Amino acid sequence: MAIRVGWNLAGKADARRRFTFSFPAGVVRSDAMPASRRRLVVVSNRGPIEYDRVDGRRTARRGGGGLVTALSGLIASHDVTWVAAALSDEDVVVAQEHAGTVAAEETDGAGHRFRLRLVEVEAADYDRYYNVFANPLLWFIQHGLWNRPYTPEMTAATRAAWESYRRVNEVIAAAVAAESADSDAVLVHDYQLYLVPRMLRDLGLRTPLSHFTHIPWPGPDAWRVLTADMRLGLLRGLLGADVVGFQTARSVRAFLATAEEYLPEAFVDHVRPRVTLRDGAASVRSYPISIDPAAFELLAAHPAVAAAAERLTADLPERLVLRVDRTDPSKNVVRGFRAFARFLARHPEWHGRVRLLALLDPSRLKIPEYAEYVGAIQRAAREVNDQFADPGWTPIDLRVSDDFALALAAYKHYDVLLVNAIVDGMNLIAKEAPLVNERDGVLVLSENAGAHEEIGGHALSINPFDLEGTADAIAAALAMPDDERRRRAEGIRTHVRAHDVRAWIAAQLADLDSIVGAGGR
Ligand code: G6P
Repeated sequence: MAIRVGWNLAGKADARRRFTFSFPAGVVRSDAMPASRRRLVVVSNRGPIEYDRVDGRRTARRGGGGLVTALSGLIASHDVTWVAAALSDEDVVVAQEHAGTVAAEETDGAGHRFRLRLVEVEAADYDRYYNVFANPLLWFIQHGLWNRPYTPEMTAATRAAWESYRRVNEVIAAAVAAESADSDAVLVHDYQLYLVPRMLRDLGLRTPLSHFTHIPWPGPDAWRVLTADMRLGLLRGLLGADVVGFQTARSVRAFLATAEEYLPEAFVDHVRPRVTLRDGAASVRSYPISIDPAAFELLAAHPAVAAAAERLTADLPERLVLRVDRTDPSKNVVRGFRAFARFLARHPEWHGRVRLLALLDPSRLKIPEYAEYVGAIQRAAREVNDQFADPGWTPIDLRVSDDFALALAAYKHYDVLLVNAIVDGMNLIAKEAPLVNERDGVLVLSENAGAHEEIGGHALSINPFDLEGTADAIAAALAMPDDERRRRAEGIRTHVRAHDVRAWIAAQLADLDSIVGAGGR
């Protein structure tokens, strides 16, 4: 049965603002499957939608984060079965109702259908897998966030979390194996699921198989934080895939170096990037991820976004600086606020005329490091406002809430978009916001965001640790002549339209075809 679901653009906090998209009939795909359409099994920890129960009714809201934003674009061009962990209580109910089968045939916000299989995982295992091992341990290693003189400490709890990480990967791999019999390819995603590729091979899966890591892969030394068995387990797990994909060429080089450093049995080819183990070889490639521009423009045209834009524009300053992030320490929000303070200190002519709007989606709050970071963000904003505010003007407008419609509305109206991540796999905000921006806003972009490899030439580049340089870039962006703003903004839009998520997946499928066609593993 096909269930049409509403996507919540308004945030968990206010269930009354949930709504269902309706789109012109023309955008709903036909049932015919063109030759280029494939039967894909997409596997990720977080699925494209999360169920909830509001006033006795089941509702569904869009999953958060860059992975879901990007992969949702796949649904439009391929026949997708999406396997994901059951995250909410209602997800678990849905998973149980369907007892190990595809839960439902769903539609995305633009009317494209996909099959969803939610995998129920034992709650204590899930908690240790998600809140201890994947986040923060792996996430912090891969984003260089540990304060190594003090953290992390590897304890019995870490070892228990590693065991849970293995069990959750096992349960998900079993579900994927059950769904993959007739599929053309299995695409496993991200750091939560590094062990799944080898587990699938051990379960006898012969389908072309890729793993794509959405976050940066650091060089070999960063991995010394883990015990040797964990390190080896992750590497060997990943290398069960035919293709191991990353966002950037830098991550590919780092992965090859890591395999060379830690896997005595591996032959690493740096020219035709490949790692060969006794039982086969994995090609290692970079595929910078992107979005579906048409679907995104449709989302941005939704009435809920127009309503949010109306509220926003009723109180717009002369110039708006915007940042949109999850409350993740890797996003560097505190330094961003401090850089804004330096800009204000040096440019009194902008007082009262510019505001920094920070729309921050609360993230991973059960993890102490993340909960503390929200406090640090709030304190930093307060310090700047205490120093510079006057009765008619508050320099930083901080909103910590999950309000996708407001973020889309703000995308249209910024003059400067600040993306100053310490390091970021890609950062899709840097690609999606310029697409719908109506003011030729200037992108101030961290040189450590994956997006910088592609669109850095159209942005003002910053070192995310350099507060003075960031302050200067904000000043330069605000003072930039209109023709240069237009040229840079158009450069980003042209790039994103030409390198969309369809091109991203097509490149991977072409590589899988040629690698598997040439004898595979
Ligand atoms: C990043 C990760 C994704 C993750 C997302 C949101 O984009 O690469 O794998 O889904 O953050 O994080 P969460 O922990 O809420 O799923």
